[in-house]
Amino acid sequence: MEIIDNSQNLIDKLNYHRKRGTEISLIPTMGNLHKGHLELFCKAPKDTFKVVSIFVNPLQFNDNNDYIHYPRSLNHDLDKCKECGVDLVYAPLENITEEINPERNIDLPKFTKYLCGASRENHFRGVYKIVKHLFSQIKPVYACFGKKDYQQLLLIKYIAKTYFPNMTIIEVDTIRENNIALSSRLSRLDDRLLDNASIIYTVLMKIKKSLINGNDFLKIRDEFIKKIEDSDISVEYLEHRKNDTLELADGTLDNSSLFIAYAIGSIRLIDNIQI
Ligand code: PAJ
Repeated sequence: MEIIDNSQNLIDKLNYHRKRGTEISLIPTMGNLHKGHLELFCKAPKDTFKVVSIFVNPLQFNDNNDYIHYPRSLNHDLDKCKECGVDLVYAPLENITEEINPERNIDLPKFTKYLCGASRENHFRGVYKIVKHLFSQIKPVYACFGKKDYQQLLLIKYIAKTYFPNMTIIEVDTIRENNIALSSRLSRLDDRLLDNASIIYTVLMKIKKSLINGNDFLKIRDEFIKKIEDSDISVEYLEHRKNDTLELADGTLDNSSLFIAYAIGSIRLIDNIQI
């Protein structure tokens, strides 16, 4: 496995492989790899050259404290990548913020204003910049992203469709352990707090059942938020929205999902399920 820490070497190396007819799959990450990430590595088509990027992108954090404390574990991550048959890891040593930041007047799609976009003003702008930058430099034929970050996935599909129409985005189902959607930030929780988080998926499944039985989301929502908050978790949002536009579902169940953002102590997490 090759490990590259600067963009010129990355471009040269990938040009070399591309000239020999190799197709590239890209899996962008912020590291502290867990089984959710590894599932993405497995879903990259077998005969492609698998590139994993590891970069904690400061532009997508709206809370500097969260950025500083974001878990970093490069040596462990490199071991995991090796075990999973990754061909190349791009882990920039220098801060590449300047490199990825030049685009001004970015017009993001409307759906980025909802859910996580409502409280985290520059988050999706930061995701847009780093992902577009990685796509431009690495020129993958395939790129893998998780449905756990569903709103992000919609934005990635928008970027691909608008600027990289020949690229295929591979969508990967959420990996859970003890019902908890895996996230790098979970490593900052102790076991007791981690146990609490397993209520989230149970509640989402109960709401789903209740909606299918004909109940109105807005009438049942508060009761379920209370159930979650009784477990020392605070709910930032719990919403029922359409899958494609993220507009409110307004009682329509087809092609809709439940979305939640919640905090355990200072750790913010998200999850979603399809109805
Ligand atoms: P990160 O949180 O490291 O996630 C990298 C990829 O792994 C994303 O596509 C995410 O959706 C996926 N992923 C995370 N947890 C998952 C789980 N439990 N099951 C399945 N997939 C999961 O998302 C980012 O990094 C960044 O925003 C990034 C796209 C790299 C841009 O900086």
